[in-house]
Amino acid sequence: MSEDKKSVGVGALNPVIAQQLAHRSVRAFRDRPIEPELLETLVRCGQAAASSSFIQAYSVVRVHRPAVRKAIAEAAGGQPWIERAAEFLVFCADLRRVDAACRRSQRGPVEGYSEHGVAAIVDVALMAQNVLLAAESVGLGGVFIGGIRNEIQIVADLLQLPQLVVPVFGMCLGWPADTPDIKPRMPLPMVLHQDEYQDAPQHLVAQYDAEMAAYYRSRSATQKLSDWSSATATAVQGKKRAHMLAFLQQQGFFRR
Ligand SMILES: Cc1cc2nc3c(=O)[nH]c(=O)nc-3n(C[C@H](O)[C@H](O)[C@H](O)COP(=O)(O)O)c2cc1C
Repeated sequence: MSEDKKSVGVGALNPVIAQQLAHRSVRAFRDRPIEPELLETLVRCGQAAASSSFIQAYSVVRVHRPAVRKAIAEAAGGQPWIERAAEFLVFCADLRRVDAACRRSQRGPVEGYSEHGVAAIVDVALMAQNVLLAAESVGLGGVFIGGIRNEIQIVADLLQLPQLVVPVFGMCLGWPADTPDIKPRMPLPMVLHQDEYQDAPQHLVAQYDAEMAAYYRSRSATQKLSDWSSATATAVQGKKRAHMLAFLQQQGFFRR
């Protein structure tokens, strides 16, 4: 039994932990809308996340128009769930209001410091995870869509994003049409270090590769993947998105 499955027992003690440990991305949705009030509540849950210096450096664009959804689905490498989900949200790192606040306070503009870019990207990621967890807690399912960064300029143009706003990822949300298996996570000792950093012991990496190989074999959609190491190498080396730095700098991020 994996570390992940063992710890599910702990989750039974607390509904929040149980919900977190039951996460799986959902890409197949029923043809049923999400009530507007519920969607607003989910975004409020996102806003409730901690925020670096309380700058709240994020914006969420709800993409409703089918033509725009279709264009984004294509730009993201052909991800049909973007069109089929009840809701599709684009989460942006947004330093625009922060910049305006600095100017209003006679402290000068935001100048593209990497620190502020990191803070904004962390803010939006924490916010989005809260949205997804809240959604899952009411029976919705969803999936992050980093694929929007494949053609980030096209997405920015479609959404008319101004300077100091960067689309970091999208999120499909809807009522699930299936319940995918939970993906086994790395053994805890590979992730949780005691006092000092230690590279993952080889036997644990091999153990995890074997576990993921069995998982991939069991799912028709992922049968071509061999194990975690090779799937990771394929993902990372095949998806460099070399345009990212220039795009970020053009939007006013990571200039110094
Ligand atoms: C930032 C981010 C971007 C992602 N982008 C995509 C994507 O473009 N398409 C997709 O189908 N899944 C995407 N995923 C989902 C991951 O593939 C998924 O979370 C991972 O395989 C673990 O599976 P699980 O979420 O079911 O546990 C993304 C996840 C994250 C956190």
